[in-house]
Amino acid sequence: MSEVSIDVHRDGAELTEALRHDVREGLSAPVKWLPSRWLYDARGSELFDRITTLPEYYPTRAEREILATRSAEIAAVTSATTLVELGSGSSEKTRLLLDAGIAHGTLRRFVPLDVSETALAASADAIAAEYPGLAVHGVVGDFTEHLDFLPGTAPRLVAFLGGTIGNFLPGERAKFFTSVRSVLSAGEWLLLGTDLVKDVDTLVAAYDDSQGVTAEFDRNVLHVLRTRLGADVDPAAFDHEAHWDAQREWIEMRLRARHPMTVRIPGANLTVHFEDGEYVRTEISAKFRPEGVRAELTDAGFVVRRWWTDAQQRFGLSLAQVRD
Ligand code: AVJ
Repeated sequence: MSEVSIDVHRDGAELTEALRHDVREGLSAPVKWLPSRWLYDARGSELFDRITTLPEYYPTRAEREILATRSAEIAAVTSATTLVELGSGSSEKTRLLLDAGIAHGTLRRFVPLDVSETALAASADAIAAEYPGLAVHGVVGDFTEHLDFLPGTAPRLVAFLGGTIGNFLPGERAKFFTSVRSVLSAGEWLLLGTDLVKDVDTLVAAYDDSQGVTAEFDRNVLHVLRTRLGADVDPAAFDHEAHWDAQREWIEMRLRARHPMTVRIPGANLTVHFEDGEYVRTEISAKFRPEGVRAELTDAGFVVRRWWTDAQQRFGLSLAQVRD
């Protein structure tokens, strides 16, 4: 059995404090919003796992197709000794990268980083049991804040998959790429998954599925407000919407009030009024063009060495290296 260690950069009390701050700021804004990371408690993570199996939600399958085809090439090009996975979500995709790195003979260490300690511990233990000889070093933290140090020896490969980069606003994206670049040394690697711009119907269906799983996932943020902050909000009083912003090229998930209401949120010391039809933005999911991804990575100090898509060109995977 290989070695597993976990570093905790953030505990439950700090999380509640961060949520309180975000709720006070977002729900007092003229157009209400909440950061999408609050969708992902245990229930939200389960709902997201169900989303990845829906016929309409193509990104997971498209990215898996690329990784299945390209993981041997990724291992050969990078000769990575350490795989760092930010937001260590689907272990299935991780396994493709681990298998290829081990088969290539260079990979020694896996460093999953996630906000959820329970999810992280479970996946770290499972991977350690399956891969004897692989050192597993989990880090509990928020990758927008705790990227000042990453364990492992160079050359490291940092994987940020699933299109989660799309949940950042453009300014946050630039900051994030720069902080990944600065925590790595020249010659180290970033593997980035990005969902691509495509026809509106396909995009909207992916975020508003016929079984209503995404709607329930979206409303989960209201369940989180109830459990963590004691909010008296009724999730059923909100309709889920997926709105395509054609100018900014992103999907916005919104929860729209079905009638006027007042919500009390004692844990944030806040009372919020909703007008009939007023909405809360709960997530943006930006869609990319190949030239845009390349420009953003180049601006942050990377050189894009490889660019792949699935056969239907729905999803893009970039392999980028820190410039000397
Ligand atoms: C996991 C953040 C990549 O933006 O597509 C899925 C989350 N939201 N359906 C995405 C999500 C609604 C997903 N990411």
